[in-house]
Amino acid sequence: MKTDSFKGRDWIDAEIDYTGEEWETLIDIALDLKKGFLLGEDHTHILRNKTLYLMFFNQSLRTRSTFEVGIQQLGGFACNLEPGKTYTPARKGFEIPYKTERISDVARVLDRTGDALAIRMYGEPAHWIYGFANATIKEFAEYMKIPVINMECDKFHPTQALADMITIKEKFGRFKGLKFVMSWAYSGSTHKPLAVPQSLVLAPTKMGMDVVLARPKGLELDPEVINYCKKFAKQNGTSFEETDSMEDAFRDADIVYPKSWGSLGYFARADKTGKGMKKANLDGMKELFEENKNWICDKKKLSLIKKSGIYMHCLPADRGMEVTDEVIDGPQSVVFDEAENRLHAHKAIMALTMGGRL
Ligand code: CP
Repeated sequence: MKTDSFKGRDWIDAEIDYTGEEWETLIDIALDLKKGFLLGEDHTHILRNKTLYLMFFNQSLRTRSTFEVGIQQLGGFACNLEPGKTYTPARKGFEIPYKTERISDVARVLDRTGDALAIRMYGEPAHWIYGFANATIKEFAEYMKIPVINMECDKFHPTQALADMITIKEKFGRFKGLKFVMSWAYSGSTHKPLAVPQSLVLAPTKMGMDVVLARPKGLELDPEVINYCKKFAKQNGTSFEETDSMEDAFRDADIVYPKSWGSLGYFARADKTGKGMKKANLDGMKELFEENKNWICDKKKLSLIKKSGIYMHCLPADRGMEVTDEVIDGPQSVVFDEAENRLHAHKAIMALTMGGRL
């Protein structure tokens, strides 16, 4: 297994930048680490004395706990830099004297003392400007030699996608020939980025599954992401389709992933000239959500998928809105396997990008 290509690399737009073969390597390493963990093996030699900086601009249960625990299990340390308790890192033009510190300065400080930096940022801390958080993470990377890891931005959630691919590999033993459905689902909150659905159409098309994206009108994904999906499907000789019917999409699916996300039409964006900025309108988005309240994954819809099919969700799930209790707690649900695999996915990413001794 060739692992040299990973050392020192960022993990930001990983579904696009890493090859399918590299994803397979990460999945294999994660599954090896998981097996060793379950057997009680000591893995502390892998990243002994290495420091991982964590920077969460948003709340988290799974990502935070598994990165912190994961680096310790590999022999390193996690240092949590809580924006607001440190000077909040800010891009040029968004600075407040003695409250923020320019990203280029923060990055060059941390680059001297740590071995990797992992960042979560979307939504309010990124002013609900679509792409702002992704660009912020890349700005850190521009000033750092150590790897920068995207723990979810406003465009992608690649650590989640890796954990989900690991879960699918465990359940089916393969990717080819599987029908994967990413579907929008209703939520009482419009404050959700497009990170999960965009990562969860890119990763399965890259891994060779036949992918269907189901979404109501007005909740389309970024056209750039759709173009990549079409490109990956063409390269793999598989299919990528879009529909506005959850039921049609679910029919004979092997995997369904119903999850809410916000509308690109209501997030702040640069206008067509690139000069002006349309403001985010999250309240306006509410009306669109309410029109599509029937987009819930219930027992009737789940009965359309294959008997051997599985229900996936990254969690936290909005029970009674995105999904019924009966489905998420039912026999086809693998949501806790996905959460568990976050630990092993993150350990594989850290071990490979931070130059671990495997
Ligand atoms: N799925 C996920 O990223 O969970 P957290 O928000 O709890 O980290």
